[in-house]
Amino acid sequence: MHGRGHHQIAVLFVCLGNICRSPMAEGAFRAAAARHGLECDVDSAGTATYHIGNPPDPRAIATAHSNGVDITVQIARQIAREDFYRFTHIIVMDEANLAGVRSQAPRDATANIAMLMDALEGSEGAQVRDPYYGDEALFAEVWDEISAAAEALARRFVEEGVAVRL
Ligand code: 4NP
Repeated sequence: MHGRGHHQIAVLFVCLGNICRSPMAEGAFRAAAARHGLECDVDSAGTATYHIGNPPDPRAIATAHSNGVDITVQIARQIAREDFYRFTHIIVMDEANLAGVRSQAPRDATANIAMLMDALEGSEGAQVRDPYYGDEALFAEVWDEISAAAEALARRFVEEGVAVRL
């Protein structure tokens, strides 16, 4: 998180391991927010425990780097109860993440939970493929999808503010 979390908009990107897709989404969205002058808190987390404390996958780091984004400082963590209140938006990569996040959501959660690709016109309902068992080419394809959706999401926040619902 940047600063102390007093921005109006706070976005948490969530995947399974928090080492491939959601770190790339966090990096791509930070870059998009900076381009749009959008001030917001941004973080990422996983639904699973496997990679807690680890940096992003080297292939995710390399893919982000080749697109001008540094994600090396990120450390994997698991989504926690307080995230459902602290973030205005929890953005997941696929249906499994959506089910996992929903199953962990407190009854009175305030965050808007949605799928990332729903932010991109024409890609509503699409899932971000898990590149973990794929190759570098799949990481590049997934980056392109994630960054296009992150750009669209940032633009919608600029236009509509915290009320954005996907
Ligand atoms: P991610 O990818 O959810 O995009 O971070 C994965 C990372 C690790 C595993 C699965 C997916 N894993 O099974 O360890």
